[in-house]
Amino acid sequence: MVVVFGSLNVDLVCRVETIARPGETVLAPGYDQLFGGKGANQAVAAARALGGRVAMVGAVGDDALGRAVTANLAREGIDVAAIQTVPGRTGCAFISIDAAGENAITVASGANGRFTAKALDDERLDARSVLVLQMETPLAENLAAAAKARARGARVVVNLAPVPRQLDAAALEQLLALTDWLVVNETELAAAAHLAGLAAGSSAEQAGALAERHGIVVIATLGAEGAVVADPVASLQRIAAHKVSVVDTTGAGDTFVGVLAAGLATGLAVPQAASRAVIAGSLACRKIGAQSAMPTGAEIDATER
Ligand code: RIB
Ligand code: NA
Repeated sequence: MVVVFGSLNVDLVCRVETIARPGETVLAPGYDQLFGGKGANQAVAAARALGGRVAMVGAVGDDALGRAVTANLAREGIDVAAIQTVPGRTGCAFISIDAAGENAITVASGANGRFTAKALDDERLDARSVLVLQMETPLAENLAAAAKARARGARVVVNLAPVPRQLDAAALEQLLALTDWLVVNETELAAAAHLAGLAAGSSAEQAGALAERHGIVVIATLGAEGAVVADPVASLQRIAAHKVSVVDTTGAGDTFVGVLAAGLATGLAVPQAASRAVIAGSLACRKIGAQSAMPTGAEIDATER
């Protein structure tokens, strides 16, 4: 089973020619209201890949958006029993996408900032489960959740997105001590390597050094360059990207994480799980939105390398 501990948002998405700079106003013809949040996105990606066996642990506000967010995940076959409702607003992401498919995102955390690891019912975690964390919820709660998971023999995927502003060397060390698989993009990898005091270098070198230092598997997503898997006890593996025409990259990283976790939970080796995740992440760039663009397991299998 995959247990995702993390954020749930509604995404308000504008398509613009160019993303507004500070002080600038740009016009968009309209906007879409979609379901998002890195945690929820990862849960949906895993559920589509696995055909179920995914639980979401997080918080929504006591508003109409919160009810819609929970109902949406239930429709995906996700166990929503551990989603808490807290006073105030559901998390909301304000997203601009430019003509090249690049995005700029501001997340109003709302309920995501007010939930705690108490929501993680220990019964959900055992030696067969994989806990998935991202960084849109409080760091201290993520650490507590990872510790709970480890104590019950579960394994932990950490997606360091976005890198928390308060993350320092000590907190990173604490987090990585509770991590089995770290998933980062190039920026997050560079930030982690810098905090860990590692020498500058290519992404592959940094991933390798981080993996060795902490005795964990580091999986770095490199956009059009695919991904690298750095395992302290195996040689570095490169996974080529799968080419698609990009409409919107929002949620591609989350798709990667969810599909990776699904593969790991079913016992795939990391390079095989990462290979499926690369394909899934690419497929998710073909349409607007995060969850709205994610493939099913059958679609991933049907895609030729
Ligand atoms: O990773 C993409 C997600 O980041 C969006 O769905 C948005 O909600 C933000 O959390
Ligand atoms: Na997309």
